[in-house]
Amino acid sequence: MTALRTAILISGGGSNMLALIEAAKDPAYPARPCLVLSNNPDAPGLARAAARGVPVAAVDHRPFGKDRAAFEQALDMVLREHGTEFIALAGFMRVLTDGFVGRWQGRVVNIHPSLLPLYRGLDTHARALSAGDAEHGCTVHWVVPELDAGEIIAQSRVPVLPGDDVASLAARVLAAEHALYPPALAKAIRQAG
Ligand code: GRF
Repeated sequence: MTALRTAILISGGGSNMLALIEAAKDPAYPARPCLVLSNNPDAPGLARAAARGVPVAAVDHRPFGKDRAAFEQALDMVLREHGTEFIALAGFMRVLTDGFVGRWQGRVVNIHPSLLPLYRGLDTHARALSAGDAEHGCTVHWVVPELDAGEIIAQSRVPVLPGDDVASLAARVLAAEHALYPPALAKAIRQAG
């Protein structure tokens, strides 16, 4: 199948984005990064993507205030300008409205740093530590209007070790994310057909 033009949405460092760009160096990989798009014009991931020859853009969400629909219309314009066929959220920290998700449903996935349905939302590592969980991990899932609630595509488990704090656990999960996302995105694109 021809690789799908895939936009990767970030808000920060973009380490998951880099893992996807690396995977897409394989000509057989079914996603072709066509854009790295951030809501944060200062996201370090933008420069990291540009240095790898991937088109970048930023739509600062702050001027839109509470008008999420207007912000998402601006996102949509940039996505369409770049011929986007699929979206991978990778550390994108804005909640997307039903309208946006409805327009892209079936063509947008996300990576979340927990073993969903455990710990939807934020502060997942602290919550796993507080609960005394023996294991933690990450999930790639289809994006639906309800936050972190879409069908699971793939998961990766890591142990919670004695002496772990949020930083050490987050680092272990992030490494698992980098290994999980590329094959999970490929699986999702193949499922989308
Ligand atoms: C990752 O833990 C991801 O699961 C979460 O945001 C973090 C940022 O990662 N959504 P990245 O380095 O910006 O990809």
